[in-house]
Amino acid sequence: MRKDLVLIAAVDKNWGIGKDNKLLKPVPEDLKRFSGFTRGNMIIVGRKTLESFKDKKPLPDRINVVLTRDIKFNREGTVVAHDIKELESITENYSGEIYVCGGASIYSLLLPYCSKAFITQIDEEFDADTHLVNLDKEDDWIIKDAGEWQESRAGVRFRYVEYINKKHTIQG
Ligand SMILES: NC(=O)c1ccc[n+]([C@@H]2O[C@H](COP(=O)([O-])OP(=O)(O)OC[C@H]3O[C@@H](n4cnc5c(N)ncnc54)[C@H](OP(=O)(O)O)[C@@H]3O)[C@@H](O)[C@H]2O)c1
Repeated sequence: MRKDLVLIAAVDKNWGIGKDNKLLKPVPEDLKRFSGFTRGNMIIVGRKTLESFKDKKPLPDRINVVLTRDIKFNREGTVVAHDIKELESITENYSGEIYVCGGASIYSLLLPYCSKAFITQIDEEFDADTHLVNLDKEDDWIIKDAGEWQESRAGVRFRYVEYINKKHTIQG
């Protein structure tokens, strides 16, 4: 499996990412940025995250790869992978960026294959039932760049932090 995937996630102070199969707090500025990064590229999501999208539909203008163990799963506009091996053959010759877009189970599964992570930190503690691993506690992951805290029109403070995986990134 290639090791240049890009993880992208919005987390709260406890690295919470969701509750009841929804985002904790949609930050419109961040959703716009997410769209800007991912449009024209490939995204990888778990089946539950796909079902959290509007009308349970794949995101437009992107190749939507969905991981599910259900061999009968078939959803228009998606490419289905049932395991890492299938994901490997889907992604191996793709020349655009490949974004790992969650949820928690997919972040955990694919973290070893990510070379960087775009994390949006929301300066709040929400009641979450789903979490991303805390990259600050992972030996291989370091902060490359941390932006200024900003005020969202959704009424929360947030900032963008870019992490890199020391194992897969040649720094220079
Ligand atoms: N804050 C953020 O940036 C962000 C981003 C994305 C999602 N989220 C949130 O995260 C939550 C959903 O996360 P989740 O962990 O519950 O679900 P998920 O990762 O989106 O989907 C889980 C499903 O993926 C499939 N799957 C998982 N591992 C697999 C493997 N090794 N091989 C094949 N299929 C596999 C299974 O589908 P089947 O059951 O069909 O087999 C599993 O039930 C929601 O609250 C969502 O809003 C937050």
